[in-house]
Amino acid sequence: MSIVAKLGLKWPIFQAPMAGVSTPAMAAAVSNAGGLGALGLGAAGVDGAREMLRAAKALTDRPINANVFCHAPARRDAAKEAMWLEQLAPLFAEFGAEAPAELSEIYRSFLQDQPMFDMLIEERPGVVSLHFGLPEKSWISALQDAGNLVFATATSRLEALACVDAGVDAIVAQGIEAGGHRGMFDPEAVDAELSTLDLVQILKAEIEVPVVAAGGLMTGKDIALALRVGAEAAQLGTAFIDTNESAADPAYRAGLRDPKLLPSVLTRAISGRPARCLGNRFVAEARQIGEENAPDYPVAYDAGKSLHAAAKSKGNSGFGAQWAGSGADQTREGGAAEILLQLGLELFTSQSQ
Ligand SMILES: Cc1cc2nc3c(=O)[nH]c(=O)nc-3n(C[C@H](O)[C@H](O)[C@H](O)COP(=O)(O)O)c2cc1C
Repeated sequence: MSIVAKLGLKWPIFQAPMAGVSTPAMAAAVSNAGGLGALGLGAAGVDGAREMLRAAKALTDRPINANVFCHAPARRDAAKEAMWLEQLAPLFAEFGAEAPAELSEIYRSFLQDQPMFDMLIEERPGVVSLHFGLPEKSWISALQDAGNLVFATATSRLEALACVDAGVDAIVAQGIEAGGHRGMFDPEAVDAELSTLDLVQILKAEIEVPVVAAGGLMTGKDIALALRVGAEAAQLGTAFIDTNESAADPAYRAGLRDPKLLPSVLTRAISGRPARCLGNRFVAEARQIGEENAPDYPVAYDAGKSLHAAAKSKGNSGFGAQWAGSGADQTREGGAAEILLQLGLELFTSQSQ
């Protein structure tokens, strides 16, 4: 049985988990409309995560995809962190602020988060998805035994094979077009930067586990193409950033259609891991400073978030983590359910042609 059938979905369309952007209202609206809604819990902490899941569950009895970050813990390097802060200091000064004296690992990896694991077992969202790596196999099978499907992101063939070995129910094949963080297990690894459609085809050639296409898919026609090359479903993030239920602020929403900020580009300056972002001022400044100097994820993100807060307090929105895929300029406004329905109908039309 396909994962779409197992989940009882009307459309093979998943709203991507988006930490900081997806909300319980968005996830519930998408799930109620026959897609799979998702919550990005990676930055929430166990109490916040439970609260978000319960808020979504109060709005739907359909499955919700609860997403966590499985990054290898940061390698701390005091000298590197101090130098990064020194390099960012003039930017803080521009907004009348001082760079923080030191940085911290602002959130815990799921790999070390037993309370989050216990919470997911108890709350049983229906789907648990893993980004940046894999926990031990016993956790994956326990989540499955508790009644969840488990998905994991892969950006390459090797990562996908590790997901197969770990026993996941589906692999989210994330192409280079995708908005937000690349799910690479090792951010230092050589990245072949495969496109979504290429990656899906490479995985389908040797992997039986269902594949979900993610990256740069903005219309039902795009989804139809991904299904045609072997994906069982498509996961869309950027397409939902400007929905009524999104937590994105007005400047971020406007930036999706601002030619000065497009196309979106990959940077590791904001968080310490490669992520696709609008080409905002932070990205430009980081190019000058040398983004390779940024500390490990999520330590660099501590600096990035402080700088964004300082800039925003003075009305400058150019330092935000404005994640966006390569199709940002095709983003639509409206309710999340309405966008899902439009995508579904376009998919249906494309498939009937
Ligand atoms: C704003 C934003 C936040 C994201 N946050 C997460 C996240 O918390 N967890 C995750 O697995 N993927 C995250 N992603 C990546 C998505 O899962 C997905 O790979 C991507 O959105 C697909 O590309 P698209 O944005 O072009 O549709 C995020 C993407 C965006 C745009």
